[in-house]
Amino acid sequence: MYTVPKLKSYTATALDKASDSLLAALEKESSAVRNEEDWKAFRDRWMARKNGVLTQINDLWLKQAPKDAKRDVGQRVNQLKATVTATVEKPRSGAVATAKRAGDSVTARASVAAPSLDSLDITLPGIRRPLGAEHPVIKTAHEIVSVFRNLGYSVQEGPVIETDYYNFEALNFPPNHPARDTQDTLFIARQESKPQRERLLLRTHTSPVQIRTMEKMKPPIRIVIPGKVHRNDPPDASHSPMFHQIEGLAVDTNITFCDLKGTLDHAMKELFGSSVKTSFRPSFFPFTEPSAEMLVSCFICGGSGKRGSEPCRPCKQTGWIEILGCGMVDPNVYGFVGYDPKKVSGFAFGMGADRIAILKYGVDDIQLFFNGDVRFLEQFG
Ligand code: DAH
Repeated sequence: MYTVPKLKSYTATALDKASDSLLAALEKESSAVRNEEDWKAFRDRWMARKNGVLTQINDLWLKQAPKDAKRDVGQRVNQLKATVTATVEKPRSGAVATAKRAGDSVTARASVAAPSLDSLDITLPGIRRPLGAEHPVIKTAHEIVSVFRNLGYSVQEGPVIETDYYNFEALNFPPNHPARDTQDTLFIARQESKPQRERLLLRTHTSPVQIRTMEKMKPPIRIVIPGKVHRNDPPDASHSPMFHQIEGLAVDTNITFCDLKGTLDHAMKELFGSSVKTSFRPSFFPFTEPSAEMLVSCFICGGSGKRGSEPCRPCKQTGWIEILGCGMVDPNVYGFVGYDPKKVSGFAFGMGADRIAILKYGVDDIQLFFNGDVRFLEQFG
């Protein structure tokens, strides 16, 4: 059986010789194909990405070629690729063709891909590629980000694989603090030999980017941070182990809770319409003090809790929807980034982009966002 040789010389004659013996082997093996099974083995031997003959000539001939021979070798390798592809995909007669026509789409494509020239009707219209659409979660995230950009915020991003230090410690979750339990963290395996703060995990929120940004920038800071986060939540209609958050942070002199309320109230009106109201109730996050949850009046039932005579489901008949967590940055956090808590103050907030997309578009299952069914995604085009 033919094996791809290493080339000792890259002269035209040497290349001719190597190509000829490759093509002879191709012809011989092609004519020995009798049935579907033979054909698949033949195809894989020549075209498999991993170690097929084409891959090998790429690796052994083209990549090893000296600089001045690269162009010539490249052209020959391309020609060989075209010939091999056409030979493998050419329509075959008898058993192979019948077996393949019975439903092998690879073959169906092959006969289109390699038409003989006299049957090519160049007056046929081309094939229009369907236009893509922005994914609904990304679209929602962009909308949220642009509301804050219009207020003068800039965008920061950070790594999805984080250290314990940024995800927890510097956000005022000390080691073993029970607030860590609320985060259902997915830890990267085999980190035990490192000091705890260096151990890697999948970030459970976008808040670590607050720290990363404050480490490199001095106040005044106004940023939004969109990104992917992970938690150990089994997937169901309202949970996904991967989801998206948008975080915000404003630090300056004399920033108060009034600024937080005014900013977020404005943002919600931009996002959900000028008639929504906001409401704050006390909460706890280790990195903010005081902390709050913000609710918006239900923009589906207008706050009544009812849709006609039916109960309103998105707000569970309360007329309010919990939309984000927020608070004034805890002075301890400033200690981790070298800011003086006596001189600066600020607020932070974090919200789930997927959840907001669900509410905005009336989607009843978060999994629809992630299982890649075009029939679902097309509706957002
Ligand atoms: N990081 C929090 C979470 O995912 C959400 C959050 C709450 C972010 C309050 C904030 C904040 O910036 O101030 O559970």
